[in-house]
Amino acid sequence: MDGASRTAPASVAVVGAGYVGTPTALVLASFGHRVWLAERDSARRAALASGRSMALEEGLEELLVEQLAAGRLELTERAADAARLASFCFVCVATPTGPDGRADLSDLFSVVDELRSHLAPGAILVTKSTVPPGTAEEIAARLGRPDVAVVSNPEFLREGSAISDTQRPDRTVVGSADEAAARAVAELFAPTGAPVVVTDTRTAELIKYGANAFLATKLSYINSLADLATRLGADVAALSRGLGLDPRIGSSFLRPGPGWGGPCLPKDAAALLAVAEDAGVSLSLVEAAIAANAAHQDAVVRDIAGLAGPQGRVAVLGVSFKAHTRDRRDSPSLAVARQLVAEGLHLVAYDPSVPAGDPELAALGLSSVASVAEAARGADVIAALTEWPEFADLDWAGLGGLVARRLAYDARGIFDARAARDAGFRVLGLAAR
Ligand code: UDX
Repeated sequence: MDGASRTAPASVAVVGAGYVGTPTALVLASFGHRVWLAERDSARRAALASGRSMALEEGLEELLVEQLAAGRLELTERAADAARLASFCFVCVATPTGPDGRADLSDLFSVVDELRSHLAPGAILVTKSTVPPGTAEEIAARLGRPDVAVVSNPEFLREGSAISDTQRPDRTVVGSADEAAARAVAELFAPTGAPVVVTDTRTAELIKYGANAFLATKLSYINSLADLATRLGADVAALSRGLGLDPRIGSSFLRPGPGWGGPCLPKDAAALLAVAEDAGVSLSLVEAAIAANAAHQDAVVRDIAGLAGPQGRVAVLGVSFKAHTRDRRDSPSLAVARQLVAEGLHLVAYDPSVPAGDPELAALGLSSVASVAEAARGADVIAALTEWPEFADLDWAGLGGLVARRLAYDARGIFDARAARDAGFRVLGLAAR
């Protein structure tokens, strides 16, 4: 990034050093602002203070070390301490799914309560956490600080590319009842060069849910079409390319997989349905996308289980919800693996982000090993569930000498199917041509 902000440096508080708060704090610091990052988890705070991140994020640790050294970033335990001197206070805490599918806002509201008497006069409170439409109004009422404007500024970053997505977002969305406050927040991100959408808070909040539910729907569509294509003997990769080159469709989010998941898409699709239900509106398309995702995962499980045979042994390649992250929350790969375990299959997993003997995986009935070769030893099927780049370049001839049967199942279109076939493997799944 070319560094200095076009605007005067501001004092910024960021509450929550998670997947959203940390990149937000770092990128704002790199734009020249003075940033206080509040994190109540002492282990996470200590790691960050020594230049380490718990997440696998390209460029994050470099930026962290740089901004700490430049003295533009400071870590605090309490939100109140971060906010005291700040003109802008970003709230970036988790809003997980509650028992009824609705977003659980309890962490967010307790931060608001903590900030109430500590926000500087005339400060701007910015919500980056993903929240249902109407939440900013609720925050303003709960805060009871007429001098503090509330701005909704949803985040669209993806895990694994959080820094570059924050430095170069597709758009900056700012919603507020106070337009000047919304524009002041957008101005902080002016160095990104992204187009700005200035709107009211409800619209800003709905844009985030609407975007994630759209992406989920697009993925369910391509996954369902991929199921059909494999049954018809059509080429899934060419199908996806042939559709995506139409700019009205667009080529991103057209890569079939074992279903969509992760910490955001499932949670936000469910929360949007709850919002629609409360408003008396039927979003049957989003409901269908969720149902199609479950059906697609079942189909993947049936295919792999059918190949492996009763009590068969499966080498599972990849358990994180996508490549370039070690996050396994709502991972479709792990969901498939768990169902296979429940079917009585014997699973040995390899994922570059998981150490051998991972206790969490062991508790789910999966043993984890340190290489593809170890996973493949004695396997009936080698199944790619997460698209880690190294799975595109496997030594199929070498693996052929280790497995019990030369069967490969590719749920991500990542295998070099020709190389696998040349080594005597039958390749099925989404790259089965
Ligand atoms: C998502 C949104 O993309 C992001 O804008 C929002 O801020 C947070 O939620 P993220 O959860 O990091 O980001 O993951 P994303 O890259 O969107 O992938 C979501 C799921 O879809 C993963 O399971 C991924 O494997 C799957 N996916 C994505 C596909 O199967 N095919 C694709 O072409 C793209």
